[in-house]
This record gives sequence, structure tokens and C-alpha cells, in this order.
Amino acid sequence: MRSFVPSEGYSEAKGMPVLRDLGTALVNGGAGFLGSHLCERLLLRGHSVICLDNFSTGRRANVEHLASNARFRIIEHDVRQPFDIETSLIFNFASPASPPDYQRDPVGTLLTNVLGAVNTLDCARKTGAIVVQSSTSEVYGDPTQSPQRESYCGNVNPIGPRACYDEGKRSAETLFFDYHRTYGVDIRVGRIFNTYGPRMRLDDGRVVSNFIVQALRNADLTIYGDGQQTRSFCYVDDLVEGFLRFSAAGSACHGPINLGNPGEFTVRRLAEIIRDLTNSRSRIVHLPAVVDDPRQRRPDISRAMTELEWQPRIELEAGLARTVEYFDGVLAGTARAEAV
Ligand SMILES: NC(=O)c1ccc[n+]([C@@H]2O[C@H](COP(=O)([O-])OP(=O)(O)OC[C@H]3O[C@@H](n4cnc5c(N)ncnc54)[C@H](O)[C@@H]3O)[C@@H](O)[C@H]2O)c1
Repeated sequence: MRSFVPSEGYSEAKGMPVLRDLGTALVNGGAGFLGSHLCERLLLRGHSVICLDNFSTGRRANVEHLASNARFRIIEHDVRQPFDIETSLIFNFASPASPPDYQRDPVGTLLTNVLGAVNTLDCARKTGAIVVQSSTSEVYGDPTQSPQRESYCGNVNPIGPRACYDEGKRSAETLFFDYHRTYGVDIRVGRIFNTYGPRMRLDDGRVVSNFIVQALRNADLTIYGDGQQTRSFCYVDDLVEGFLRFSAAGSACHGPINLGNPGEFTVRRLAEIIRDLTNSRSRIVHLPAVVDDPRQRRPDISRAMTELEWQPRIELEAGLARTVEYFDGVLAGTARAEAV
């Protein structure tokens, strides 16, 4: 497959004003939760944007509000196959991200991360584009140190049910740094900690969306294990801002850099906050713990603060309130559709 999009951009784009053309940005996985927010912000910043996606876990609905913008275009493609696109900036966000999604087809997940990295890096090598990788806190596995610094090499079970994702992302990081050392590709590797916000799927199986949907339906809030495991939750707008700063950082800044919110909450506390925010009658119940579930997750973001002058601004309650509003709207829409 070959596709070419002019990098000059268009000064009379429909929908959004162009302040200054910044060239074409390619977003692999642009129809997903994070990718769709990133496409939006890149357009606002003045880029032309290509969203490349195979729509396995992402949805056209996430980007349909961008479709009328002349600087936005969608290419349906699987990153496991090579691609050749003229671009100056690539974000590789293509991978299933929630445990039920990535465990549904473990071999496919591993290959998406490994072959997707190779094909993305080959494209960057040909075009000279800066290439930004969405890595993950899962590279730390079940960490033996907290908070997790980028220098920590992690504690990952390579043969467990989460390994297809964890080891896929670790291999992708290896490929990014080897392409940088061997071919001089200008890379950025960002390790994302649990991020939430509007456009997560109702049924994607992540803890924030699970609890909000259960609470809005007054159903039991299901905690796997004792609920004392901790997580850090970053609102999507903060995360996207971190990635934009990283992509614009000088070419000496390759990472890895942790991007997440250092506030640490037990899963039990998260359930209570969401129940309160939604005025729900839900009970909190416990189910057996899942295999290899990390006990602790909290980023050390000193590197992001120093090198990107970035830190999250949106408090958990405020971000959750916006997310609850979103899910409330989606559930109301679903109920209306079912009533017709
Ligand atoms: N959301 C988080 O908390 C979080 C945390 C750590 C890392 N990440 C990473 O960020 C990226 C985006 O995550 P998300 O939360 O938006 O998930 P998501 O599932 O909503 O988005 C992933 C997107 O990639 C697409 N995709 C998957 N496999 C593909 C393939 N083979 N070819 C082309 N497109 C493909 C999907 O259709 C979807 O649009 C992922 O790489 C994920 O690993 C996310």
C-alpha cells in the first residue's frame, strides 16, 4: 500500500482554523481512545493529520467529527503490514490496550506491537520523520520499587497471560532504541500510566470505565482481589499534552519518559469515589484476583517535569466528573436507541 499526502497542508481547512502549517502527522491507532484525542489536538495545533487504523478496538465514531476537516484523513490499514506514507511526525498508538482486548488474540497483540514497531520505524527511516512510541507502565510488570523510575528494568512474567502485551511493548522499545542507534531514527518513547476519559468504550474492561458504567446502572462495582492494589489515573487531556510536548522536544530527548499522574489510589478508593460522584446505589463486591495483576503502580515523573516541563493538571475527581458525564450521555443514547 502506498499513500501520499502533501505536507504543505491547507490554509482553508473546513472546521478548524489553521494558525500555521506544521506538516503532516500520522497517528497509528488514531481511531482509538487516546489516538482520537491526539488527532484532534494535532489538527488544532496546525498539522494535517492522517489516522491509520484497522478498527479492531477503535471506532470510526471517535473521529467522525473530524471527517469534514480538509486536513484530516483516514487510512484503513493494519500496522502488521508495511506502509509508506509521506509524513514528518509519527505517533504509534496502534495496539489493543485493555486486558480483555489484548488477551482476546494474544499472538495478534504481540505481532501488532513487534511488526507494528518495525513497519512504523521503517516508514520513519524512509521519510526522516520523528517517531513517537506509546509504550506503557506495563513494561515494569509487577514492580518491586515504587514509584517507578525510567531506570527500573521491571519485573515481568514472560509467559503469563499479560506477557503478549507487556513483552510486545518491551520488544517495541528495544526496536525503537536499536533503530535509533543503528540508523539514526529520531525516536521518542513515552511510557503511559493508566489514562482515562471520554471515548473509552463502555465494555473495554478497564477499571475506570467498568466502575462508572456499573455505578450509573446501579449494578455491583466489581473489584478483582482485595482492592488494596494501587493505580495512578491520568486524565486524557493531560496525557495528550505530555505527548505533544515530547514530540516537540529537541532531538536529544528520546526517553523513555514516564507520562502519568503520580497521585496513587487503591482500587477500592477509586470505586468509592466513583460511587459518590454518581450518587449510585451500587454495592462494592470482590471477585478473585486476576493473574499477574500488579500490586502497585505509580510513576516517578521527575524526568517529564525536567525535560518537558510537564505535569498533570487535572485532579482525579474533576477528570472523573467529565468522564461520568460522557458515559451518562452514551448510556442515555443507548437507552433511547433501544426504546425506538
Ligand atoms: N489508555 C491507557 O491507559 C494506556 C496505557 C498504557 C499504554 N497505552 C497505549 O496507548 C495506545 C492507545 O491506547 P488506547 O487506550 O487508546 O487503546 P484503544 O484500543 O482505544 O486504541 C488502540 C487503537 O489501535 C488500533 N489498532 C489495534 N491494532 C491495530 C493494528 N494491528 N493495526 C492498526 N490499528 C490497530 C485500534 O483499532 C484502536 O483504534 C496503545 O498503544 C496502548 O498500548 C494506553
